[in-house]
Formats: sequence, C-alpha cells, structure tokens
Amino acid sequence: MLNPFDIIIFGGGGDLALRKLLPAMYRAYQEGNLPEGSRILPTVREQSKQQEYIETAEQALKSFLGEGEFNSQDWKAFAKFLVPVVVNVTEPDEHWDELRTILAQDALDKSRVFYLSLPPAVYGTCCEILSTKQLITDTSRVVVEKPIGYCGASAEEINGKIAQYFLEEQIFRIDHYLGKETVQNLMALRFSNALFENLWDAKSIDNIQISISETVGLESRAGFYDKAGALRDMVQNHLLQLLCLVAMESPHKLNANSIRTEKLKVLEALRPLIAEQVDENTVRGQYVPGELNSKIVPGYLEELAEGSSITETFVAIRAHIDNWRWAGVPFYLRTGKRMKQRCAEIVVEYKPVSHNVYDESVGPIQPNRLVIRLQPEETIQLTLMSKRMDNLDMQLQPVTLNIELSEQYGSSFHSDAYKRLMLDAAANNPALFIHRDEVRQAWKWIDPIVERWQEKGTPALYRAGSWGPEDADELLQENKHAWFNVGEK
Ligand code: BG6
Repeated sequence: MLNPFDIIIFGGGGDLALRKLLPAMYRAYQEGNLPEGSRILPTVREQSKQQEYIETAEQALKSFLGEGEFNSQDWKAFAKFLVPVVVNVTEPDEHWDELRTILAQDALDKSRVFYLSLPPAVYGTCCEILSTKQLITDTSRVVVEKPIGYCGASAEEINGKIAQYFLEEQIFRIDHYLGKETVQNLMALRFSNALFENLWDAKSIDNIQISISETVGLESRAGFYDKAGALRDMVQNHLLQLLCLVAMESPHKLNANSIRTEKLKVLEALRPLIAEQVDENTVRGQYVPGELNSKIVPGYLEELAEGSSITETFVAIRAHIDNWRWAGVPFYLRTGKRMKQRCAEIVVEYKPVSHNVYDESVGPIQPNRLVIRLQPEETIQLTLMSKRMDNLDMQLQPVTLNIELSEQYGSSFHSDAYKRLMLDAAANNPALFIHRDEVRQAWKWIDPIVERWQEKGTPALYRAGSWGPEDADELLQENKHAWFNVGEK
C-alpha cells in the first residue's frame, strides 16, 4: 500500500480537475487505494469558490462518475480528504504562504505531488513561485499535462523552465493513454507471450493500423482546439506513444529508464516526412455537418462560430520505421473528431500464408488479423482461418477468438487512466510518463508536417458521422490496404 501523500491540484475548479482528476481520486478511495492521511488540495482563485468547492466537487462527481459509482456514504468519507485552497498561480501573494502552512502541517518527507492542471504558458511562473516559496521538497514531484508546447521550440522552452526548478526525475509528463489498462496490456501481450515475440516483425506482419476515432466535436474547447488541431492534440502524443509501445524492442527490464530508452529509439527511427513526402503520406480533414447517431450535427465551422478556419479535425498518416524489425511495414495512424464511432484500436494485419495448398474452391484465405481494442470496450480479437464444420467439403472461413477483458474482472475495478497515473506519481513511479527526450523527438517528427500544411492546401472535408475524408481511404488503397473500421468487418 502506498504511503500517504498530498496532491495539490492547481486549477482545481477547471474542467480537467472536475471531469477527470476528482473522479479518479474518488475511485482510488473506493478501491482502498487512497491511504489515510493523504490530502487532495485543489486550488481555486477566490475565497467564494473555496467555500463552494465541496459542493462543486460533489456535483462534479455526480455528473462525471459512471452509473452507480456515486454513493453518499463514500462521498462523505472522500470529502474529508479534500482541502480546497485559494491560490493565484501567477502571483506570489500571501495565499501561497497559507498553502505552505497547510503543507507544513505534515512531515517534510511526505510525498508532494503538484499537479499543474493549467495552461502550459503559466507552468514556468507556477514552478518559480513554488520554488521561491520553498514548497519543493526532495519528495516533491510535478505533473504536467499535454500538450507540452505547440512545436519543438515552444516545448523546449516550457521543459526548460520547469527544469530550472525540478530535476527530470521529479517531472511527470502525463499522456493519459499510457494509463489505460489496455495500453499497459499491450506490453503484457507483447512481452509475456512467445507467440507474439516470434511473430512481431516485418517477416510476419504486413501493416499496422493505429486508430483513435471520436464522436465528440469541439466540446467547448474552441479556444484551445482551433489553435492546436488534431495533429498536435492527438498524434504528437497519444498516437505516437501507442506507436512506440507497438513497435519498440523489448526493454531489458520493465522499469522507466529501459522503457523510455526503447520508445525513444522508435521515435528516432521514424522516417522523417519532409515537403512533398508530407503531401504523399498525410491526409488532413475537417468535418462538415452530417448525421451521427441519427442526429444531424453541425460542422466544425458552425461549432466554432467563426467564418473560416483550416484547423484539421482529422489526420491520417502513413509512417515507416526505418530499422531491421520494421523495414517496409507501413504504420497507418488515424484520428478524427465526429467520426462514425468512438473507438481506439491497434490492428495488426499479418502477411498471407507463404504457400497455398488449397485450390480456389475452398474460398479465399484471409491473412490473420490481431485487433487490440482499447475502447469503448477492451477486447483482443484474433482472426484465424478454419474449416467450416457444417459441410463435408473442404471450405475455409475466418473465425475470431474474442477476449472481452473487462468481463474477466468484477465491476469493483474501474479502469481509469488518471487514477493509475496520479497514484503512480504519488508512488514516484515514472514508467508510464514521458521523458523530455521523447517530447523533443516527437516534435521533431511533427514540426515539418505542420510547416508543410501551413504552406500548402487546406483540409479535405468529411461529413460528421463518416470515417473521414475519402483521401484517407485512398492513402491505404495505394498500398492495397484498407482501414479496419469497427463494426464493418
Ligand atoms: C485528449 C484530447 O488528450 O484526449 C481530446 O485533448 C480527446 O481532444 C481526448 O478528446 C480523448 O481521450 P479519450 O481517453 O476519451 O480517448
């Protein structure tokens, strides 16, 4: 069991804190993973908000927890862990001294996690005040949210500022995809099954698709999203992290340093896309009105309520990893908003059998396919060819082994990426967080794509409720491949 810790959530009244961080801590409490003596200190800017905070938190939990998760008995017990404080994160005023007094009530070696649920532009100032107010102890850590910057240079600047006050091993950069149970299961699958150890390279695999489709649109984040776009919001972090876990070599041990070293090697081996290669290997799209779940939904520009924008809400990329293991294997990355279904999955398409012993009458032999679905349900499916059992003739058909991961465990365990990552930060376990070098390398690959897009063309339009622009289908057809769209195969 973890030792008691203090977690200070800067931006405690913000969307992320209310929607994700408080529910995560509440679940930790319900599962017995929030040690007695721990404190959750959400910061708010005004005294009035401080007085209302407990009520705000209760409402947030009622709205954002899943069905049946909230109960008033657990809430009463959980509320005792909450200590809202007033802090203006950019002004080193007397409120910081109050925070200091509260923190000093407990032993100096108690774990302190400063969670910066704030715009990256104020990370530096906030860290500086933490330092001048002498709040950073040896057992302190800082957690920062993506996106780290808007390009390589701005990320370096932000990381550089944080590094003035915290050592790299004290900095926990969150990518919440790494906290998803199924994402960790990806490593378990790869590194504890000889089957995959031997069938995980260019000799056996034809292509790999990593796709995160969302049905939501802008969700009142216009200010952020229109500046960022899908490439920065999803590809630079979530998709590239998934790519790393799929493609990396086995770390010699499952510790933070070994995992990060292997992930970094993948990012370094990603073939750069420069100038025309961007045109040839990427597709960007923007949604227009369409029908989603039997409702007509507005297009991006209508949601934005601005006349024009060329921000992409969809990206598809054909990437290559230039090393021995993956030579010649296309990795297709895709993400988009307002797509037909919410789904995140990794699809591994194997090569056809090397020699066909059957004649045409048995039917086509489809290559094996492994689908690791991260959400909405967590499943692993392996499609194999087998003989039809309802026929004396030899007839082949694809059959699917289907493992529903969530059904294997009771409902008492709620897989929640933020819970996992916040508890890991409290326990000083950085394995599922991102190293500065990874951020740098990921931007190095992304920056030329952004530059080319800024110079050339506009996004292809796609209907809300579709699987994205036709150009994205054509990108795969060039290699005689097709997207594996959930529910359609
Ligand atoms: C966030 C992005 O990092 O991930 C959002 O900023 C996106 O735009 C979200 O909607 C998706 O996360 P999940 O866990 O719902 O797939």
